[in-house]
Amino acid sequence: MKIRFADQRPEGEFALVLPVAGNDRSALASMGTAQAALGAALDSQRFDGEAASAQENFADDHGTMRRILVVGTGTESVTGEVAEKLGGTAAAKLLTSGVKTAVIDVSGLGLDTDAAARVGLGAALRSWRYDRYHTKLKDKHKPSLTEVLIVGAPAGTQKRYDERWAPVYQGVALTRELVTEPANIIYPESFVERVTASLKGSGLEIEVLDRAAMEKLGMGALLGVAQGSVREARMMVLKWNGGGDSRPIAFVGKGVTFDTGGISIKPAQGMEAMKWDMGGAGAVVGAMKALAGRKAKANVIGICGLVENMPGGNAQRPGDVVTTMSGQTVEVINTDAEGRLVLADALTYVQRNFKPSAIIDFATLTGAIIISLGHEYAGIFTNNDELAQKLGSAANASGDKLWRMPMGEPFDRLIDSPIADMKNVGPREGGSITAAQFIKRFVEKGTPWAHIDIAGKAWADKASATAEKGATGFGVRLIDEYVAEVCER
Ligand code: BES
Ligand code: MN
Ligand code: ZN
Repeated sequence: MKIRFADQRPEGEFALVLPVAGNDRSALASMGTAQAALGAALDSQRFDGEAASAQENFADDHGTMRRILVVGTGTESVTGEVAEKLGGTAAAKLLTSGVKTAVIDVSGLGLDTDAAARVGLGAALRSWRYDRYHTKLKDKHKPSLTEVLIVGAPAGTQKRYDERWAPVYQGVALTRELVTEPANIIYPESFVERVTASLKGSGLEIEVLDRAAMEKLGMGALLGVAQGSVREARMMVLKWNGGGDSRPIAFVGKGVTFDTGGISIKPAQGMEAMKWDMGGAGAVVGAMKALAGRKAKANVIGICGLVENMPGGNAQRPGDVVTTMSGQTVEVINTDAEGRLVLADALTYVQRNFKPSAIIDFATLTGAIIISLGHEYAGIFTNNDELAQKLGSAANASGDKLWRMPMGEPFDRLIDSPIADMKNVGPREGGSITAAQFIKRFVEKGTPWAHIDIAGKAWADKASATAEKGATGFGVRLIDEYVAEVCER
């Protein structure tokens, strides 16, 4: 989708999008003689201008019959979030409508360059779709919209969009693509290839560890998960050096390209969803793309533990004891609790090699977090109140919402093992918390760390104002905003 900003409505054919605040009809004034009829049409359809609501009409626009899409912006002042909803709602309505160009007239809204640019971001995000495997799409189901032109934004909005928000869109798009792809296409090696190709020319430094390298480092936990699969494991490390010689912040992603559960196999019903068990890794690489794209003034490490969790003749067994890179041993009670095993070695690796100032991991780690928080919030677990507060602020600003979960000694005790330093599962109760306690055992003393369980957020069964149903790209905007708010000042 081409996103452009201009002072004036163009000549020629386009659909006109008019933002309307609640029951205030003044935005229709530019319609001239059609104003009254359009207002009456809205009234008769009980249009109340709620944010992200929309009504489509055809009206005489100064002598041309035109598709007029009225989109609500609510009754409060138009924030960046509402601006994104406006762009997203317009794009959703017009994407396959037959219209090629949408003109969103934001003249009356009094937006600053940032909010106006985010109208464009919302439109771009909502227009993203992945049709690679639809070989028989009917013409009328193919996107017709190719351009969104936003008029009436202040000078400098195009620049703001190009520099600040287009890179974020690019990052989210990469994450969504990786998460959408099935597991026969995206497995550890091809994940690395796809990401490397996407990051070409970005200025990111890329390092990849293969099995031999990880064996040498003693990553017995990660490799134990991978050993049942014919797909070799990989560790992918991305480095962005935009911040002089300050210590980097590290983002770590769970990249289980498919999670069958292994020998502790999952039920067939819904197992196909486990293609997106690499959503944490997807978020980390998407965020690195965004940060590099906007040349963030910060030092950032993005690291992904990539494995496929399969049953097989060589798969690890319940009861196996593995030695992690940290030297700690783990009794693998349940081979389906694999994400924490992957993260454990990734965490040790990033601490030994980069001495990060803080570590934030992203993982589709537990079904239990969906029981706790549904699909509204990702759960955040942390050993540091200041980090919790800063991540909370970035969550609110970015729309990637977080809810803090508790941790503590009594939960930690639940993963003690009779035969090894710990076991990889606790009881059913508090399953997300014991998972977080497990990861915490791999965080060195004094390192601020947060674990974000995104199992309820990586994929959505219904569309939102800024995302089609499917892969959400959750985490990219949170990371981008956190780096902007905390690391770049
Ligand atoms: N990848 C799953 C968690 C998951 C479940 C993500 C549903 C998204 C939707 C994870 O590896 C897993 O299997 N966790 C187990 C842990 C259990 C064995 C302690 C779970 O949540 O059931
Ligand atoms: Mn699992
Ligand atoms: Zn998993």
